[in-house]
Amino acid sequence: MVRIGTSGGALTEVSSGLLVVGLYKDEEAPQELLETTEKVLQNGDFSGKESETTLIYAPEGLTTPRLLLVGLGERASFVLEKLRRVSATAAKRARSLKLDEAAFVLPVPEGSEMRRVAEVAAEGAALGLYRFERYKTSDDTRQLETFTLVSDESAIEEVEMGAGTGVKLATAALLARDLANEPSNSATPEYLAEKACDIAEQYGMEVTVLDRAGIEAEGLYGLAAVGRSATNEPRFIMLEHRKGGDEAPIVLVGKAVTFDSGGISIKPAASMGDMKYDMSGGAAVLGVMEAVGSLELPLNLIALVPATENLPGGDAFKPGDVLKLHSGKTVEIITTDAEGRLILADALSYARRYEPAAIVDCATLTGACHVALGDYASGLMGNDENLIAEVRAAGQASGERAWPLPLFAEYTEQIKGDTADIKNSGGRYGGALTAGAFLKEFVDYPWAHLDIAGTAYNGKPRNAYTPKGASGTPARLLVEFLRARVREREVAQ
Ligand code: BES
Ligand code: MN
Ligand code: ZN
Repeated sequence: MVRIGTSGGALTEVSSGLLVVGLYKDEEAPQELLETTEKVLQNGDFSGKESETTLIYAPEGLTTPRLLLVGLGERASFVLEKLRRVSATAAKRARSLKLDEAAFVLPVPEGSEMRRVAEVAAEGAALGLYRFERYKTSDDTRQLETFTLVSDESAIEEVEMGAGTGVKLATAALLARDLANEPSNSATPEYLAEKACDIAEQYGMEVTVLDRAGIEAEGLYGLAAVGRSATNEPRFIMLEHRKGGDEAPIVLVGKAVTFDSGGISIKPAASMGDMKYDMSGGAAVLGVMEAVGSLELPLNLIALVPATENLPGGDAFKPGDVLKLHSGKTVEIITTDAEGRLILADALSYARRYEPAAIVDCATLTGACHVALGDYASGLMGNDENLIAEVRAAGQASGERAWPLPLFAEYTEQIKGDTADIKNSGGRYGGALTAGAFLKEFVDYPWAHLDIAGTAYNGKPRNAYTPKGASGTPARLLVEFLRARVREREVAQ
């Protein structure tokens, strides 16, 4: 990953291959740059529209050979999320200029702490520069080495702290991206379990991994049924970060179907390859644990990641089958392609033993959620309005937006079973909601559910800091949710 440096002082004294300065729409450049920017601004070649760029060579009055102006958009509508994108745009431009290093003058937006400004700038640059290139054998993979955040000397300590946090947040998201981008022949349930063990070792967490026999012995029959026909055996992964004394823990649950063929109810061949991303929820949860470990957040946090392939086979579960899940509830299988809710149901009822303060699950659960909300928001459901509001706010603050969807009692009616208690599909209409209603049957603690089917990966870049492929969503949202909980508690004390 790019190194994020910091530097305090006048922008005329920065020495770097490239100096990047953000300008608001239709505003003048700062005093020191008036002369060198005069022509380009007067001609209207650069207006300051968000992420618009103009490169000026041999800028007058500066010690750098290049000056990049980058638009911040309207001053009145500036939000930190724009800075993530602007910073990513700047860092990527520096890389395409084949530079090793670039300096970015941090804007000083009214009403924002410089710590947060530095945090999102660092985050944006690190996220934006990400590429998944493990399997590229050519070596045209030049990377920008250092991206330096320039600020007033007086803010340097705040900037250093913020940049440090931003790097940790980005690291979490990049781990989630790496895991999700990894193809399923490599990213097996066992592979995810090994990653969890690495995190546990690095941060002194407790890790437990159940194999197929352990999964059956614990009565996680949904996970066992979905994973039964797979040669790459399922795993149930548990990670515990205990830094919150005797407080009730928060439990995070992430769906990790390392490949979802649909099983016997097999999916169409076109874009089936995308179903390697069906473990994005689990990947994000592991990313969160990495961040929580490196940030040393003072709380109790438990990650549950049910991991399995969903494949057809002689031993596969079948439509019409009835399963008894971990909670004791029975489920009639309408389609083996609604497998995510089965493994999540087991994890959710398993979570009861922790008597959690809150449970948040995330899953690439339904194509219907993608249809409902498009590419730009995860579906948000749950049984507790306060928790839903918290998760939603964390989505807004992190740029990983989540939008509430209803869990009316009628959706639960829609999945009432004929031969069993419930069925695993409620049909075509309201697919994201009947999936949420299904999960609701297995929790009796404050709970929120994020359907990330439309946000976990993209066929094309989503924005300047989210390239094609896995997005890492909702790792940063969840870390923000946890950090907000820690902040709230500090205020209360
Ligand atoms: N993993 C899929 C959901 C999905 C679809 C995620 C497309 C990302 C993109 C899930 O297991 C699934 O197959 N869901 C079915 C549910 C249905 C059969 C009730 C779906 O959405 O079609
Ligand atoms: Mn499926
Ligand atoms: Zn799935």
